[in-house]
Amino acid sequence: MSTTHQTVPVALGDRSYDILIGDGLLARAGDLVKPHLKRPHTVIVTDENVARHHLDSLQGSLSKAGVSSDAVVLPAGEKSKSYATLAELCDRLLAAGVERRDTIIAFGGGVIGDLAGFAAAILRRGVNFIQIPTTLLAQVDSSVGGKTGINSPYGKNLIGAFHQPQLVLADLGLLKTLPRRELAAGYAEVAKYGLLGDRAFFDWLDKNVGKLFDGDLATIAEAVAVSCRMKARIVAEDETETGVRALLNLGHTFGHALEAATGYSQRLLHGESVAVGMVQAFRFSEKQGLCAPQLASRVAAHLKAAGLPTHTSDIPGELPPPAGLLELMRQDKKAVAGRLTFILVRGIGEAFIAKDVPDADVLAFLEEDRNRT
Ligand code: NAD
Ligand code: GLY
Repeated sequence: MSTTHQTVPVALGDRSYDILIGDGLLARAGDLVKPHLKRPHTVIVTDENVARHHLDSLQGSLSKAGVSSDAVVLPAGEKSKSYATLAELCDRLLAAGVERRDTIIAFGGGVIGDLAGFAAAILRRGVNFIQIPTTLLAQVDSSVGGKTGINSPYGKNLIGAFHQPQLVLADLGLLKTLPRRELAAGYAEVAKYGLLGDRAFFDWLDKNVGKLFDGDLATIAEAVAVSCRMKARIVAEDETETGVRALLNLGHTFGHALEAATGYSQRLLHGESVAVGMVQAFRFSEKQGLCAPQLASRVAAHLKAAGLPTHTSDIPGELPPPAGLLELMRQDKKAVAGRLTFILVRGIGEAFIAKDVPDADVLAFLEEDRNRT
């Protein structure tokens, strides 16, 4: 464990904050968090798995810095991003005495970050919160940028708010307890940054992906820092996604349909849906003549080597036919007047926003893609 860390600033005027990235930050969390608190008390929101491995350490570190804490421990998994769990969480935060000037801590993966962040956005019309992300996915993506929310029966993340955290503490040491499958799911979002806007980073990942999965801390630190720097730059330019921020959704229009079709279940994790969706975005771009042939195969080979699914046939169980998947895509938040928006590519690191993609082209692609062996 080291006592050094990297700092990536997110420049958003009076809502600016830092992302701290390093090993051993949880042990220093009390001292790092305390300056952001108006009184020496906080409520931690976490899930059962994170609580089992790491809650004592966080509470111990807070206590050493003179900060008392309560904890709300919720069931793990995507199903907690629901109206029911949001209601339960808000009531438990009120029961714990959270006041307008208090700060809560979201301590977990993207599910806890999105849910606790949304509760913070609406509780007493908005309280402060700090993100302590515990999955690779949350450290490189969901804890940064202020998107918070829950799912609706109509689709994913459809109920939510932009609410920026005060601070993000990404302790790389926490990833040691993360199951391999979850690490790979998070890796899909790391690869996404290279694929959407940084070819040199993707080439670097190609060379270093093995070390990352072997737990080499310097490699993980570099991957997380490059990812966070790109996300911070894009969020600073377009906080509420009126333009360039949509690029962060590479693979998501295809992927969200697959996630909905598999019921947001263990059949397909969010990061896995992004992996399959990114390969589809590359294949669709190839079919539209937008990028050179064979790029999709290179991307698929890279993601497969990381242990990710790269084709719909890798997803266990039946999927709806192409027309059904297209219907599920219509709930995508990027849709305008029912027309879908896709993030397509001209090459590795060259994603762009494509509006007005004809439904017939998407349907023909999905038909062809499902028969691909
Ligand atoms: P998750 O929060 O469900 O965590 C994955 C699993 O790992 C859970 O079972 C959790 O209990 C467990 N876990 C977490 N940290 C652990 C640790 N250190 N050790 C052992 N187990 C641990 O899933 P996720 O992949 O982190 O996040 C997915 C969610 O993030 C989705 O809901 C997605 O929509 C959302 N997301 C949001 C944004 C955003 O900008 N807000 C961006 C990307 C994804
Ligand atoms: N994960 C997409 C975004 O934050 O915009």
